[in-house]
Amino acid sequence: MKLSKQDILKALESITVPGEGMNMVESKAVKNVITFGDEVIVDITITNPSLQAKKRVEVDILKTIHEQVYEKAKITINVKVDAPVKPKANVIKGAAVPGLRNIIAIASGKGGVGKSTVTANLAVTLAKMGFKVGVLDADIYGPSIPIMFDVENERPLAVNIDGKSKMKPVENYGVKVLSIGFFTKPDQAVVWRGPMAAKALNQMIFDAHWGELDFMLIDLPPGTGDIHLSIMQSLPITGAVIVSTPQNVALADAKKGVAMFQQDSINVPVLGIIENMAYFTPAELPDNKYFIFGKEGAKNLAEDLKVPFLGELPLVQSIREAGDAGRPAALQTATPLEQAFEKLTQNVVQEVVRRNDDLPPTEAIKITTMAGCSAVKK
Ligand SMILES: Nc1ncnc2c1ncn2[C@@H]1O[C@H](COP(=O)(O)OP(=O)(O)OP(=O)(O)O)[C@@H](O)[C@H]1O
Ligand SMILES: [Mg+2]
Repeated sequence: MKLSKQDILKALESITVPGEGMNMVESKAVKNVITFGDEVIVDITITNPSLQAKKRVEVDILKTIHEQVYEKAKITINVKVDAPVKPKANVIKGAAVPGLRNIIAIASGKGGVGKSTVTANLAVTLAKMGFKVGVLDADIYGPSIPIMFDVENERPLAVNIDGKSKMKPVENYGVKVLSIGFFTKPDQAVVWRGPMAAKALNQMIFDAHWGELDFMLIDLPPGTGDIHLSIMQSLPITGAVIVSTPQNVALADAKKGVAMFQQDSINVPVLGIIENMAYFTPAELPDNKYFIFGKEGAKNLAEDLKVPFLGELPLVQSIREAGDAGRPAALQTATPLEQAFEKLTQNVVQEVVRRNDDLPPTEAIKITTMAGCSAVKK
């Protein structure tokens, strides 16, 4: 059997690249194909550095050539990983926490729209892409990150760094996590006054050993309150990601969220808006979409406010179940959801790269009193 390069390329055209909507040949992932007799060598380059992605692409190629061209073809695949450019470090020299390259606040305005779900899934997807990731759960009133990462019974250990005792974040799915939930009993209501909460948060930032992180994601409580100011005072936030459902009440609050970050005295770039629960899709009818909270509300808001639209996520039972089970849905491999999260995460990374190219590093804001935004100075 003499294999032809054309036949191999034609077969490879049937493999789509996750998250790109293009086939492998179109996207120029296939660098070279050499055939001699029944042997074929395929050189490809992928951008996702995870082992899983490499494995998936190898399996796809083997299967496709064996099925479509010749079942006994002897195939050698050389995979080169061309990882996405690491976003430049954003944090200013001498910044409060060395080693944190990009700090992203996830906010919403309205509660329950999916900030924590989005944070957890972005985090695990970034980790799969090969980035070093940490999550700081700053929702002092309802910390949900420990459950979503299945670490609610763990506690951070103390480590000695340069003679100082520091908290070591707990780790799961390649993501480092600290949450106020680690310091309270699970069924204890956390009713904290602002200054106490701010102190606890500062400890999780400054008395913790986060190490080097490409991304620290901060899961904020709903609203636009003291905790937000306190975080922006403690840390130079690279940018904010706003989560909203398409529903009017959520959009109104999302708008307030954007306005808070954009006001002159704060000036944290808004990386974009994510539309969560964009439509409902039942598992048994995967092609049906029900726009129960309205259609494209967050997308339109992004256009109105001239901030990037980062993408949409459907309302599906498996996202909720995965969150409750402590294994974010984005970890499920080769599912449409994994692809949706990959696309969303790529958009976020792209906006971070753009932001860091275009704008100077953010500075932590200086607040003279906690009375409100009017007392905020740059
Ligand atoms: N796309 C989705 N599909 C299905 N369920 C979802 C989706 N997004 C979030 N949920 C579920 O909705 C509920 C609220 O989500 P989540 O806790 O992430 O919101 P939040 O904005 O962080 O809430 P809070 O304001 O209380 O912190 C959770 O039970 C979560 O599992
Ligand atoms: Mg939350």
